[in-house]
Amino acid sequence: SRMPSLEACYNLMDFEAVARQVMKKTAWAYYSSGADDEITMRENHAAFHKIWFRPRILVDVEHIDMSTTMLGTKCSIPFYVTATALGKLGHPEGEVVLTRAAHQHDVVQMIPTLASCSFDEILDAKQGDQVQWLQLYVNKDREITRKIVEHAEKRGCKGLFITVDAPQLGRREKDMRSKFSDPGSNVQSGGDNIDRSQGAARAISSFIDPALSWKDIPWFKSITRMPIVLKGVQCVEDVLRAVEAGCDGVVLSNHGGRQLETARSGIEVLAEVMPALRERGWEKRIEVYVDGGVRRATDIIKALCLGATGIGIGRPFLYAMSAYGLAGVDRAMQLLKDEMEMNMRLIGATNVAELNPSLIDTRGLLGG
Ligand code: FNR
Repeated sequence: SRMPSLEACYNLMDFEAVARQVMKKTAWAYYSSGADDEITMRENHAAFHKIWFRPRILVDVEHIDMSTTMLGTKCSIPFYVTATALGKLGHPEGEVVLTRAAHQHDVVQMIPTLASCSFDEILDAKQGDQVQWLQLYVNKDREITRKIVEHAEKRGCKGLFITVDAPQLGRREKDMRSKFSDPGSNVQSGGDNIDRSQGAARAISSFIDPALSWKDIPWFKSITRMPIVLKGVQCVEDVLRAVEAGCDGVVLSNHGGRQLETARSGIEVLAEVMPALRERGWEKRIEVYVDGGVRRATDIIKALCLGATGIGIGRPFLYAMSAYGLAGVDRAMQLLKDEMEMNMRLIGATNVAELNPSLIDTRGLLGG
């Protein structure tokens, strides 16, 4: 079958359909899989459909400003490229393709510990004052972790995102079945003796420390001045604890449905977290990010209305990259920006600060 032209992709789901056709089976299995029965993976996107808009009329929406500030740096729009491992499974150049697209759109990129390119290749691909963050899997050998963190800070990374939802990698059976053989990864933080029979994810993750705990947070604060964000927080209790531990942010995330099966969607957790923070007057003490299942600008706007500072997007950019390279990611980001501008007009908000809970109806999400 002929590959559809890039111009025939009108939304982020279209890239997924093309990627599914053109990607190598093992790569598709690694990117697209979720844990167990993939219930959480599906719910991540479905949960957004339980929120409805309450748009306001007769607002002057001629000029729309979508820019915002995340961890102290300005960016054009409140979504970012979240960390996804093994970029070279989808494209021969790997993560630097995402770096270039992020630069073109003034979007933040989170660099994964398990990138296929080396950290320095991804840092070197940065242009001008482009902002990058580091996603960290914490090694059992803390000296390795310390070196990674110090190097990232020295090279100008603006945020440290510690992944806390993966003390052990989830079972992604599609990935396991595809009998992964060559990760094409720099595996600079991994170990030897990796068992490849369990799929790509498990093959490269054996170095991750399952003993990581709240007690380690002061140590991270002592080795870096980058803002510290916990990625993979899933309930209000842990958000409050992150505030008390002096973290700068949390990402409400279930790892794209790849870890704990039947974990709740990030957007549902956000609806629980923000009122609890406001109740305590703590909403300015921590930045709350969310990811999982975001495919439309309306999803982004709903998260912003609930109070999120930024929204992470994973698979759609991987699929766009795998199918069409840089031009694909560029178009995916442009489509989202166009959707966002239009939908802010239709909802009656001219900038991100005007997006607030009164513009959405969450009874379907919270009513149970
Ligand atoms: C991920 N994710 C992830 N997270 C992380 O902290 N470290 C990692 O190495 C990876 N790797 C990874 C690989 C692939 C192929 C996927 C799809 C995801 C999780 C990622 O950062 C994010 O939480 C989800 O991807 C968000 O969901 P969507 O946008 O993919 O639906």
